[in-house]
Amino acid sequence: MTKIDDHLQRIMVLQMANKVITNSSPNSLSTLAEGTYTKVLLCDDGVSVLKVLKDNKHAPLLKREAEIIAKLKDTELADLFPDLLESTTDFAGYNSCPDRFKCFTGVKNINECSCNLQSTALLYRYDKDMPSLADAIKKYPNGVDERDMVWMFKRLLAAIWTAHSVGVVHSAILPEHILLNLTTHGIWLIDWMHTNKVGTKPKIDKIGPAKFYPEYAITGDNSTALDIHMAARCMIQIMGGDIGTTSKEIRLILRACLSGATDARLVHEQLDSTVKKLFGPSVFRPFKV
Ligand SMILES: Nc1ncnc2c1ncn2[C@@H]1O[C@H](COP(=O)(O)OP(=O)(O)OP(=O)(O)O)[C@@H](O)[C@H]1O
Ligand SMILES: [Mg+2]
Repeated sequence: MTKIDDHLQRIMVLQMANKVITNSSPNSLSTLAEGTYTKVLLCDDGVSVLKVLKDNKHAPLLKREAEIIAKLKDTELADLFPDLLESTTDFAGYNSCPDRFKCFTGVKNINECSCNLQSTALLYRYDKDMPSLADAIKKYPNGVDERDMVWMFKRLLAAIWTAHSVGVVHSAILPEHILLNLTTHGIWLIDWMHTNKVGTKPKIDKIGPAKFYPEYAITGDNSTALDIHMAARCMIQIMGGDIGTTSKEIRLILRACLSGATDARLVHEQLDSTVKKLFGPSVFRPFKV
């Protein structure tokens, strides 16, 4: 991106975020989702979504999401995470700013501006062809073919081990946080606002139904088990909600995940070799949602 593009992009984000925050004519944005701390809005360009805080007191959480995404995007498996186009974690709310033109365009540094009105927003790339696992579960209430579940599970485990390798436990592996790329059979693992540090006892923000969370306490020593457990729960749901419908071999792996497996890479290896034995070399199977 050129400097001018950077600047325009920043202005666009500021303009849109301010519309949301001040509730002034947000007609170029439609609400895609509303979470615990944020609203996610689809921008009228159709290729980006704006994640804006409902209350700026949670700014540290969104700032941390941006930092985590930057770390994940710096790994070999960057494609498994959403593209953060712009993060404006420290700009001023220009509508109320006496010096609003300068403040709004970012010419003036927030620290130099007297308005002291801060807003926080992240702009992500949006891909209309990436439904969530929640959409897929709705579409297939009786479950999908095990071979369709397997590619999702493998990508999810890879995303999880990558997060763990940079010291982060996602802690909210829920179907709405797994976006599926049906063309490449990739995924994006999103919403990094509920994370814990690897090796600390996870604080669990129960933002999804109980069926996705472990019944037992997870300790600091095996904090990574939380993500693996929740991943298995998601996979059971896409299989129709009953672990008994999976093949004996895959069921063993799912059971290990549910009972405290801590190494996502190892689970991935076991899954990979099991799948090769069960189904032979991998073949692309079109999947629709
Ligand atoms: N990059 C993206 N592309 C497509 N859809 C997205 C993207 N980011 C978010 N979404 C959609 O918006 C929903 C909410 O996003 P996300 O989970 O990141 O925030 P949230 O749940 O509002 O946040 P929180 O609960 O942490 O306050 C997602 O479930 C997904 O449907
Ligand atoms: Mg969410």
